[in-house]
Amino acid sequence: MATERTLSIIKPDAVAKNVIGDIYSRFEKAGLQIVAAKMLHLSKAQAEGFYAEHAERGFFNDLVAFMTSGPVMVQVLEGEGAIAKNRELMGATNPKEAAPGTIRADFATSIDANAAHGSDAPESAAREVSYFFSDDEICPRG
Ligand code: PPS
Repeated sequence: MATERTLSIIKPDAVAKNVIGDIYSRFEKAGLQIVAAKMLHLSKAQAEGFYAEHAERGFFNDLVAFMTSGPVMVQVLEGEGAIAKNRELMGATNPKEAAPGTIRADFATSIDANAAHGSDAPESAAREVSYFFSDDEICPRG
């Protein structure tokens, strides 16, 4: 399997629950390396730009309001099959459908306050990583 990078966001609900360390531990135990990270309080414009593909969806304003409601932790994860591995660790978008032991099953409260985001494909991963990080902010361990 190829080495990939993926964009992960620990959302405001999970940051507020003080579980950044727990989630980072899950990434590392699964063989993913954190090669870039920053804490941000997203502006409305930043959140709208990040989720632009969902602009026509009924939940768009709620999603932007939630993502700007408090700080988020944004990181680039690197490893074999990182995109799928991160999504497996997160579990289903709706925490009611998330498998036991996944990040969303353990920490999310609803489909909007769902603890984590992960890129869903190589194209979106490349776009999302570059949305938040310049090349010189990413530190591969080799
Ligand atoms: S899709 O069609 O598969 O792209 O949509 P989905 O992945 O299910 O959702 C895209 C993001 O929108 C969030 N979402 C919601 N936010 C607020 N309210 C409602 N009802 C809602 N439904 C979906 C969902 O958490 C996804 O956010 P990210 O950050 O991509 O995980």
